[in-house]
Amino acid sequence: MSLRNKPVEQLTEKEAAEELGRLAAEIAEHDHRYHVEDRPVISDAEYDALRLRNAAIEARYPWLVRADSPSRGVGAPPSSTFAPVQHSRPMLSLDNVFSDEDVADFVASVRRFLALPSDAELVFTAEPKIDGLSMSLRYENRRLVTAATRGDGTTGENVTANIRTLDEVPERLPSDAPDLIEVRGEVYMRRDDFLALNQRMAESGQAFANPRNSAAGSLRQKNPEVTRARPLKFFAYAWGETSAPIAETQFDAVRRLAGWGFVVNDLMVRCRSLDDMLGHYRAIEAMRATLPYDIDGVVYKVDRLDLQERLGFRSRSPRWATAHKFPAEKATTVLEKIEIQVGRTGALTPVARLKPVTVGGVVVTNATLHNEDYIRGIGNTGQPIREGRDIREGDTVIVQRAGDVIPQVLDIVPEKRPADAEPYRFPHVCPVCGSHAVREEGEAVRRCTGGLVCPAQAMERIRHFVSRNAMDIEGLGEKQIEFFFTHPDPALSIRAPADIFTLRRRQAASLTKLENIEGFGDVSVRKLFAAIDDRRRVALSRFLFALGIRHIGETNAKRLARHFLSFAKLRDIAERAKAPAGKGDPGNDEWREIVGVSGIGEVVAEALVDFFAEDHNRAALDALLAEVTPVDEEAAGEISSPVAGKTVVFTGALERMSRDEAKAMAERLGARVAGSVSRKTDLVVAGPGAGSKLKQATDLGIEVIDEDAWFERVGQSPSSIAGH
Ligand code: IVH
Repeated sequence: MSLRNKPVEQLTEKEAAEELGRLAAEIAEHDHRYHVEDRPVISDAEYDALRLRNAAIEARYPWLVRADSPSRGVGAPPSSTFAPVQHSRPMLSLDNVFSDEDVADFVASVRRFLALPSDAELVFTAEPKIDGLSMSLRYENRRLVTAATRGDGTTGENVTANIRTLDEVPERLPSDAPDLIEVRGEVYMRRDDFLALNQRMAESGQAFANPRNSAAGSLRQKNPEVTRARPLKFFAYAWGETSAPIAETQFDAVRRLAGWGFVVNDLMVRCRSLDDMLGHYRAIEAMRATLPYDIDGVVYKVDRLDLQERLGFRSRSPRWATAHKFPAEKATTVLEKIEIQVGRTGALTPVARLKPVTVGGVVVTNATLHNEDYIRGIGNTGQPIREGRDIREGDTVIVQRAGDVIPQVLDIVPEKRPADAEPYRFPHVCPVCGSHAVREEGEAVRRCTGGLVCPAQAMERIRHFVSRNAMDIEGLGEKQIEFFFTHPDPALSIRAPADIFTLRRRQAASLTKLENIEGFGDVSVRKLFAAIDDRRRVALSRFLFALGIRHIGETNAKRLARHFLSFAKLRDIAERAKAPAGKGDPGNDEWREIVGVSGIGEVVAEALVDFFAEDHNRAALDALLAEVTPVDEEAAGEISSPVAGKTVVFTGALERMSRDEAKAMAERLGARVAGSVSRKTDLVVAGPGAGSKLKQATDLGIEVIDEDAWFERVGQSPSSIAGH
């Protein structure tokens, strides 16, 4: 699949950056073709898809947004797509207030302006501030004639054809409506509709960042049929020009709009005091997360329209209304400390410990810093981010919380950087176990090399150590490992691979008996110890693979085992090997021996050398080798073949051998042959006519090959087995 078709959620960060670069260039080119040359070469739908994909990638990786991003332009297609409309009355915006005191000031300023005595009644309405796009619908003779966006407040865009596709916008008004009225309100998309739409669109690699963008994008379609297919809604809450007064109060006016068939918000109330207003604000804030649509605050309006008239407007906003915004989803706070978390795979992830701050109603104390480069102001393709600003302990930072996503540090406030703030030095040792943490070329992540001893990785490592293709110790499943790993009694704890083999001795010497613990009966304990003892001699390749050294999977473990034949020899060489110090240096003899092993490259060699260079790993190995003896493959009774230890299923018609023959051959090569496909299946050999098993295998992502490929894989032909 080419990158441009890859679903957004499958893109790696690096690919996302690459895609954003391509999209910026392509969209700019199409903009030019469309607007300047008037010679578009792609359809509107294709163009929209490009923008949507760009928006979706940016929503996922906000720190990758480019300076030349198409989303930073005017937003959506430039207005030449839609004809301009002069608003007969300006579409104003609202003042914002953020605190209870601000609201009190607003109320006081209204009273002062109107010279109202402090005991005179003053009623306000309070209603949610819908996070959508404002719209003005002009009805002449009770018919919808024009629908216009707000634009700059004076001139909007004519989107009438698109608006007519909305169910919630009446085409005609009843006879009691005035001859001329502009009904104003908000076009929005419900959250559930947005999610469903996005899911549908994601299949073609497109998605919107949030319901508001989705509503805007859906409305600004050149083809109204596209808009029709989008679940847009409309709340009416205001009006512009009217040929006759429609009511005496805000509240009654909105009720009239409802009477004409508009949907109005049912959370609008009348408030007779500041306490009422703040109480309603709190109530709506508490409902915010469960409302079916996004809101970003509460709007207070003077209820009496005659008072609204007297209060009038400042340049851009009415004196009679204000928006009490909810705390922003972004906030600034102080980054007190950068800490490093070590994940189960050893990845070192920097985390910002913050001075607690409320972001969008939630107290945030931690935020992710992604990786080493992100802190330094470098994006994933090496390009500067935040104009190259780095992040330091002591910095004042901008934190963002988007929905349930982990909060992230977006940027710093340069003016607030303390004079003594030092560039952050990303540790080169694991903060959990002290082993070296290395970063491979082309990787964003630095990893701890303390595999066996690093507690952050230990449980995961033990799981791998005992797994089927590694040490293959039966009776140590997920649950048991967790039980032993977390057990406080030293007689029963398994924290490192060697502990598995000393478990029987330790618990024999202690008063705690495994048999008496729930979940372990006599029989299962006996079986477990037998399974463990069975593995005290184990094939070298399994042992190597079980160690979980980076880049040493089954194949490389086999290659190394075949070459070195003994663990002691491999270890001796790896401990003495010296990688090339620079260009022209071939490395020492031991290094050359390792990279000389067929199929082993420098990356693997380095991982091996790094592993054995760690004192911790060496100590853990010594403890393990006191219990376990790796032996060469033959001595271990292991069959060395590309399918040894694998579970194989044959399905469909086989043309070059019988089913029985195939089974015998596979078993001779050390494979298990199963009759049905399950998660444990490693390989499916499918011939013509293969049906449900083939489908199951594909669904489970299991490798499927045909008969010819099977013979190629095992390096045999049917004739060479005929004699057996
Ligand atoms: S009243 C003259 N009521 O907020 C004031 N506006 O920041 C007219 N908005 O452009 C606006 N919900 O798009 C009003 N219940 C509401 C609103 C609301 C959302 C939007 C509207 C306006 C913006 C101002």
